[in-house]
Amino acid sequence: MSARAAVVLPASMLRRPPQLAPSWELQTEVVVVGAGAAGLSAALAAAAGGRRVLLLTKGALGSGATALAQGGMAAVVDPADCSDRHVHDTLAAGGGLCDPGTVRDLVHAAPAELARLRALGATFDHDPHRPDTLALTREGGHSHRRIVHAGGDATGAEVDRALVAELRRSAVQVLEHVVALDAIRDSEGTVVGLSVACVEQTGRLDPGVVLAQAVVLATGGLGQAWAATTNPAGATGDGQGLALRAGAEIRDIEFVQFHPTVLWRGPGARGRQPLISEAVRGEGAVLVDATGQRVMAGVHRLGDLAPRDVVAAAMHRRMAEARGGVSTHLFLDATGLGAALLQRRFPTVLALCRTAGVDPVREPIPVAPGAHYACGGVTADLSGRTGVRGLFAVGETASTGVHGANRLASNSLPEALLAGRRAGELLAAQLPSGREPVVFPAGPTPPAGSRAATAVATSRWAGVVRSTAGLQRLLDHLGDPAATGPVEATLETVEAAALHTVSTMVCLAALARQESRGCHRRSDAPEPSPHGAWHVTLQLEEDRLQIGSRARDHAA
Ligand code: SIN
Repeated sequence: MSARAAVVLPASMLRRPPQLAPSWELQTEVVVVGAGAAGLSAALAAAAGGRRVLLLTKGALGSGATALAQGGMAAVVDPADCSDRHVHDTLAAGGGLCDPGTVRDLVHAAPAELARLRALGATFDHDPHRPDTLALTREGGHSHRRIVHAGGDATGAEVDRALVAELRRSAVQVLEHVVALDAIRDSEGTVVGLSVACVEQTGRLDPGVVLAQAVVLATGGLGQAWAATTNPAGATGDGQGLALRAGAEIRDIEFVQFHPTVLWRGPGARGRQPLISEAVRGEGAVLVDATGQRVMAGVHRLGDLAPRDVVAAAMHRRMAEARGGVSTHLFLDATGLGAALLQRRFPTVLALCRTAGVDPVREPIPVAPGAHYACGGVTADLSGRTGVRGLFAVGETASTGVHGANRLASNSLPEALLAGRRAGELLAAQLPSGREPVVFPAGPTPPAGSRAATAVATSRWAGVVRSTAGLQRLLDHLGDPAATGPVEATLETVEAAALHTVSTMVCLAALARQESRGCHRRSDAPEPSPHGAWHVTLQLEEDRLQIGSRARDHAA
């Protein structure tokens, strides 16, 4: 289909972060925001190329989403596998919205990114029967065993450990507990720095300014906008909102992947919930309802290992049937795997379950889908280039064309490593040059409602299955934050504003996408559009928020 006429709304519907008068200033060449695989790779590559690099992270090093990754890293390393199959699986999961050229680029580069990590000292699990061969597991949507893992189900922790160790050996300057608020631009719109704030132990903010020739956003995902998520507390979509306000395009933000097997800890559980890795199904566990009936039987040829959007939607349907009188969750039966395999392959999952009072060796694990991964984000290429000079986006913050409408499991670590490294190398070779920053006026912090209320409303109306009526109710809710008048500038109010922006972006994009595709499911439009695959875009121009659409992008 050709481009559709844009819907234009007032920018005032977005809650901005506080405009604070800075009390300190730093200058550098490259500032990277975020300390996951993407941010660390960008910072290391830029510094290795001789750049002065400052890395900011909202928490402490190692507290982000990368360290939580269980399943692993998809890469074609088995001679019996081939790149074409990995490309095919990625495109099939992506629901027609992946950019095939970008997918091919990632798939061919993934083994080298794995080798880079190993050269830094990361150790991955080996096949117990062939000690010189990497152990490989399967996850949803993969036609072959190609997921490399570490520590059984602690892959992200090992990746993070190796990258942070390298960071400590590098010249990168690191500031922990610093939140990025907004981009600073020159008179031509080039990004020339950031307004930021140190977060004090009380949550109060000490505002500052970082001037730089390039800003790399690697802030990760936005799962905290939903009531139950696998994402850490800081995953509040800071980078996506900041990029929108800086003039960048946000693409396909409605595609939020719900991981099918998040430990269900009761109806009142809020925030980050324990993940039960898909690799548990990869090793043979199955989803059942409260009557013991299989959930995925007859739904998809890959059964319990169907792509995540298919599994989450099937779970949603089965939960609505309330078989056995249970409508809030289902069960993952891993009892057939046996105690020895569970202990060797899934020590993290076992410990998480046992802490919650569930023993997967002897009983099925209660599970429900939870917000897991942002497939869309800031439109960028695999070197992090956005449409805004001086602004780069990598990792989960970006939409590069790799994930389309639904990410294939374990493709995100290789993408984060590759895009981060390439962005850093690009900036090592050449820096954009901006002019004098335009000084922004300090102003009051607007109210954005409570973080918990936004998350409950977003889960209710923009969860696994959506409808125009529900999304409209979410929009009404977001337009009416409970608090009135300016509020105190704290990390809490900054994150509430970021989450309000995330929910607004997702809601507007989900309203615009009147079809079901990938992980965006509409009860009132259950089929994909007959007009083919198209992107939904959001862009801020002066005081207008444009919601547009265009045919699927192709890399040159
Ligand atoms: C998992 O271990 O199931 C998560 C892996 C991923 O999201 O790629």
